[in-house]
Amino acid sequence: MEITVFGATGGIGAHLCDLAVRRGHRVTAFVRRAAAVPSHGDRVRVVVGDALTGVGIRDALRPDSVAISCLGSRTPTKAGDPVTSTGARHIIDGMRAVGASRLIVVSSVGVGTARENPWFVNLLVRPAFALFYPHARDDFDAMEALVGASGLAWTLARASSLTDGRARGRYLVDRDTRRTGPFIARIDVAAFLLNEAENPANVQARVSLSNPWPELIRRAPRLLETGPRTG
Ligand SMILES: NC(=O)c1ccc[n+]([C@@H]2O[C@H](COP(=O)([O-])OP(=O)(O)OC[C@H]3O[C@@H](n4cnc5c(N)ncnc54)[C@H](OP(=O)(O)O)[C@@H]3O)[C@@H](O)[C@H]2O)c1
Repeated sequence: MEITVFGATGGIGAHLCDLAVRRGHRVTAFVRRAAAVPSHGDRVRVVVGDALTGVGIRDALRPDSVAISCLGSRTPTKAGDPVTSTGARHIIDGMRAVGASRLIVVSSVGVGTARENPWFVNLLVRPAFALFYPHARDDFDAMEALVGASGLAWTLARASSLTDGRARGRYLVDRDTRRTGPFIARIDVAAFLLNEAENPANVQARVSLSNPWPELIRRAPRLLETGPRTG
């Protein structure tokens, strides 16, 4: 499979390139600085460009490419770096120009309305977004609107708070984005993105993506209700 990774030097993107190469895919890494791409020999084609200007994006795509965007602002507290939405617009234009159709984009928990998010996100994450990252939140909202209206075979993966933890190998994917856990390891996000590229299961859908709640926390409401099982 031909896979183009936007944001290939980022936390999720680097794991994704690595995983895709190990599974035998042809990978194109779209990056700002070629020197920042870990060496995979000739198994990764590197295209240098900028997602804000759109330079290089079309060169990174082929008609059979699955485009996966892990783009994110390196200055999320500041205005003026709307890379997820501007990047998505250029990627969509580039895909239309070359005739590619499958697009998978990393989004974030807390995006959208309060009704689309669980209570703990509404209590903690959305206020933090509003206070510290209003530009990043607006950028994600704009990106989701563009992708949703693109007419492409898109998937939006609303990842929970990211960690650099080890791969758990298990993650929850839910089209009801109110159902999600608090964290997900970047490496598990990468695994989801690649699995979704290989086996499209959530086309034209927004999904939440998280590692399972730790067992005790997951069971706490029931334990409080029923008491611990003794038998
Ligand atoms: N923090 C969280 O808890 C959380 C939760 C859910 C979702 N997310 C979002 O998930 C996404 C991926 O997360 P991550 O941790 O993997 O992000 P990251 O490590 O910050 O990586 C961002 C990537 O985007 C690239 N990029 C930024 N501006 C660019 C531009 N103008 N042109 C080309 N590439 C550009 C960066 O390239 P350079 O190496 O050149 O800078 C880097 O490869 C981000 O959008 C993030 O906000 C975060």
